[in-house]
Amino acid sequence: MSRILSAVAWPYANGPRHIGHVAGFGVPSDIFSRYMRMAGHDVLMVSGTDEHGTPILVQAEKEGVTPQELADRYNRVIVEDLQALGLSYDLFTRTTTRNHYAVVQEMFRTVHRNGYMVEQSTMGAISPSTGRTLPDRYVEGTCPICGYDGARGDQCDNCGNQLDAIDLINPRSRINGEKPKFVESTHFFLDLPAFAGALEAWLRTRADWRPNVLNFSLNLIDDMRPRAMTRDIDWGIPVPLAGWEENPAKRLYVWFDAVIGYLSASVEWARRTGDPEAWRAWWNDPEALSYYFMGKDNITFHSQIWPAELLGYDGRGDKGGEPGLFGDLQLPTEVVSSEFLTMEGKKFASSRGIVIYVRDMLARYQPDALRYFISVAGPESQDADFTWADFLRRTNDELVAGWGNLVNRTASMIHKNFGEIPAAGTLADVDRAMLAQSSAAFGQVGELVGTHRHRAAIGEAMRLVQEANRYVSETEPWKLTQDRERLGTVLNTAAQVVSDANTLLAPFLPHSAQRIHETLGSAGVLAPQPRIDEVTDLDDEARTYPVITGDYRDVPTWQSRTLVPGTPVAKPTPVFTKLDDSIVEEELARYAER
Ligand code: MF3
Ligand code: ZN
Repeated sequence: MSRILSAVAWPYANGPRHIGHVAGFGVPSDIFSRYMRMAGHDVLMVSGTDEHGTPILVQAEKEGVTPQELADRYNRVIVEDLQALGLSYDLFTRTTTRNHYAVVQEMFRTVHRNGYMVEQSTMGAISPSTGRTLPDRYVEGTCPICGYDGARGDQCDNCGNQLDAIDLINPRSRINGEKPKFVESTHFFLDLPAFAGALEAWLRTRADWRPNVLNFSLNLIDDMRPRAMTRDIDWGIPVPLAGWEENPAKRLYVWFDAVIGYLSASVEWARRTGDPEAWRAWWNDPEALSYYFMGKDNITFHSQIWPAELLGYDGRGDKGGEPGLFGDLQLPTEVVSSEFLTMEGKKFASSRGIVIYVRDMLARYQPDALRYFISVAGPESQDADFTWADFLRRTNDELVAGWGNLVNRTASMIHKNFGEIPAAGTLADVDRAMLAQSSAAFGQVGELVGTHRHRAAIGEAMRLVQEANRYVSETEPWKLTQDRERLGTVLNTAAQVVSDANTLLAPFLPHSAQRIHETLGSAGVLAPQPRIDEVTDLDDEARTYPVITGDYRDVPTWQSRTLVPGTPVAKPTPVFTKLDDSIVEEELARYAER
């Protein structure tokens, strides 16, 4: 049994999330966490909404509300959507809690005390028309290193290099296209070069990461410069130092804010359980494992900046130092980054209507249909494309006609002929081979999920489903009504394989897994679901907010459970909804209208 931290990227609360987001960080982290719990591990899965920074300010202005009102609005939307999709967070909170502020400030004070926060004056961009600062990410231009035209002021997504906005060729504002003006400003910089040695040594031990992620991260080591951790902005966490704290125009930057959410959410979770120190088992113990899930635009922040902040807190950079109140914090075990999802061949762009919101998808389709698509065809290790035609095909041919049909015909025949799980008589070779294949799948699928190869994992589980469909076709139980013993043996075998396949699919398809569990007459919970609790801020009685949480500890283990003969089986109803071909045209028209 290991302790496993599932640290899931924090979505900005500046709008509803689209299916590209949940394909990147959401569904993969949930599959992994659900599997690890079933495999007997003690999983802590945390995240929340990222509510500070320019993305929130810009949208608040557009909607004519305050940044906090905007964050409240979209925090709730995001919480509802992620819960409806079945993402089993132990705690999904937000960055505007007092607890988060306190944890971030403790991190800052300690990293600063250890000597890794250096004050420097820099040239920062401002918008000439509004006089407002323009954060690096909002400046776009040509990369001075590789010539790519879509580089941002903080990094080039093409060559991966860290950039300064002032070095971009032909800089322009991503907010309104104007040419920014550069003015001098003083900030705190995280002294990344002081961690280069420690970071490289750590990355060299990470040989089992996805090659893209590891290579990208190792490349970053060659170009390490101090990086600003504060911004000229009035919406964010104050810098906890005399002279800075009172200054309303300087705040901590997202990479010294949301990224610390993994720790603050763990602390909040512990405080809410009544054992405020419980988070330490996932953070201080070198044996504990931690997995960080995100889209590829966030790799730098999780494989370089966040580990550097942890090293700085621990006093493990070139300048030494001592950990603060949180003790020695462990570096990530693995940064699990996915690639991008496109839609009908195009990049998602909410502003141009090229977007499928999670909410709209769930209003029209089953959550497991979306989860299935993401699992089999998502951007796991290369970019992937969502098309409605493919969604239709996979739902109808694989989910409905493959898996749903197996469940339905097996349960129907059992109900009709026995009304309960029949006992098996003497097994024939064909039965034994089927059962052997079914129990062997646990090792195979488990190994694949545990190493983040979900496409291959669900492929294995669906292969078992195919084999089981073939088994039923070949043994022809509908012709065995005169031979009750053989009929019982075949249907018992088929039901056992359905039960096994359902356990294997539970991390991927938790909603239907629970229903199929009940279809086979089994009691209790196979796939627990998250819930939304309305909670009071632990340090501010006047404030309440919704969190996603749940009770996931008593899940059945990752193994075959022998069905008990005599368990009543009712007449089944179809678990998956077959889609009409017309949805493709309808959906394409709907998105063309925007
Ligand atoms: N909200 C930011 C983004 O979407 C950061 C997410 S990751 C975390 O890019 F590290 F901040 F959690
Ligand atoms: Zn570049």
